[in-house]
Amino acid sequence: MFETPVHSGLPKAASYEELTRSLVALVEGETDALANLANAASLLAHSLDRINWCGFYLLRGEDLVLGPFQGKPACVRIPVGKGVCGGAAERRQTVVVPDVNRFPGHITCDPASRSEIVVPVIEENVLRGVLDVDSPETGRFDEEDRAGLEKFVAILIPRVAWGRL
Ligand code: SME
Repeated sequence: MFETPVHSGLPKAASYEELTRSLVALVEGETDALANLANAASLLAHSLDRINWCGFYLLRGEDLVLGPFQGKPACVRIPVGKGVCGGAAERRQTVVVPDVNRFPGHITCDPASRSEIVVPVIEENVLRGVLDVDSPETGRFDEEDRAGLEKFVAILIPRVAWGRL
């Protein structure tokens, strides 16, 4: 219903604009945080091509704990500072890893993953978690993906009651 394939033939930036419009429509009028995150993960999974995992890790104390996602079962708990997810959370910056085999400390969940992007979720200066997207292709994520996914997260942040998750 809300699928917006990024492999639709549109230029990537335009596809991400479509994607964020779909996200706004999808979560409009709904305040349940878990439902909105679950649908956001599904929207990404059905919109982005050449990915094998996408989802959220939510900050619980000093750990990132698995939240709504699409893909194979994944590691449940990642300490802040560990792996790609924990690194992005600690630095509060998006991390793009073109080749996970060349990233010391990468945590393998799905062995098919070759590249990865992790966008921190920061609400009014409070770290809430991260969005993680994995691809079976090396070098899958470029600057347009970074900008598009950061926008996606920025749109999502005010529409989720993070404190109630
Ligand atoms: N590769 C991540 C772990 C999460 S999974 O890829 C879903 C990391 O190194 O933090």
